[in-house]
Amino acid sequence: MFEMFYGMHHTPFTRGIPSDQMHRTRQNSEVFSRLIVTAQKQSFALLIGEPGTGKTSTLRRLKDELPESEYMVLYVSDSKLTPRSFYNYLLNQLGCKSEFHRNAARNALHKQIEIMRTMQNRKAVVILDEAHLLPKEMLEEARFLLNYKMDSENPIALILSGQTELWDKLRLSAYRAILERVDVECFLTPMDFAETKQYIETQLIYSGHETPIFTEDAMRSIFTFSGGNPRLVNRACTQSLFYGSQMKQTCIDSKSVDIVLENEVTGVGH
Ligand SMILES: Nc1ncnc2c1ncn2[C@@H]1O[C@H](COP(=O)(O)OP(=O)(O)OP(=O)(O)O)[C@@H](O)[C@H]1O
Ligand SMILES: [Mg+2]
Repeated sequence: MFEMFYGMHHTPFTRGIPSDQMHRTRQNSEVFSRLIVTAQKQSFALLIGEPGTGKTSTLRRLKDELPESEYMVLYVSDSKLTPRSFYNYLLNQLGCKSEFHRNAARNALHKQIEIMRTMQNRKAVVILDEAHLLPKEMLEEARFLLNYKMDSENPIALILSGQTELWDKLRLSAYRAILERVDVECFLTPMDFAETKQYIETQLIYSGHETPIFTEDAMRSIFTFSGGNPRLVNRACTQSLFYGSQMKQTCIDSKSVDIVLENEVTGVGH
């Protein structure tokens, strides 16, 4: 275990990092602010990015930071989602029982949303993650949630999050009805080298390790491998820390990182 060798209190470079200690880049901070406004204004947002660029992490931060007294965040991530299971997932998160028929589930959900809005004064934020995997029927059903009432304000905020295929799909004419209703478009792209270095530093601070471990050249190798994609940075750093601890290196240079990454085949350079 490298944590012991490096005197770490938490394991860095994992998805377990608390949302208030996540790394902030200019881009992800801006995306985050736009999602907060989406929740406040009850609008419809898209969050698009390549795998591992931090979409789910940003959504987790959103859920953690929206005050529970004012918002109810309903998060769904299921590639096999059907309209009925979608409504039932949401009902279950609201503490209600599932309904067998799609229409009954839809009506029960509308009723719960109204109770939440009018009696509890809370706004619903529905998040559909991995939305690139969902069929058109499912995306349309989610979009209908926005205008089942004819009020001037939407009854919910809706965030569809997915990989770039979602964006490609929504631009097809068959999906125009959905795309036209989108109020906010957010894109997450990989970090540049300076941001990748800061990301590594943030992770090491979170771990409780007080001095730098990776040399500048080592971070350059990590950046070349990962292209600034946080998931790949995590993988490169974790493998390097394992290797470094086995070799009793308190400082990890590019030679070590290159040895480790030679056997990794999923980096962007391959
Ligand atoms: N801002 C951040 N701070 C700390 N760690 C992050 C941050 N963004 C991403 N990560 C790390 O990168 C990993 C991948 O991010 P995440 O799962 O959010 O990507 P994604 O865009 O949802 O990918 P996918 O499209 O495959 O679902 C996370 O498990 C987390 O460890
Ligand atoms: Mg994700």
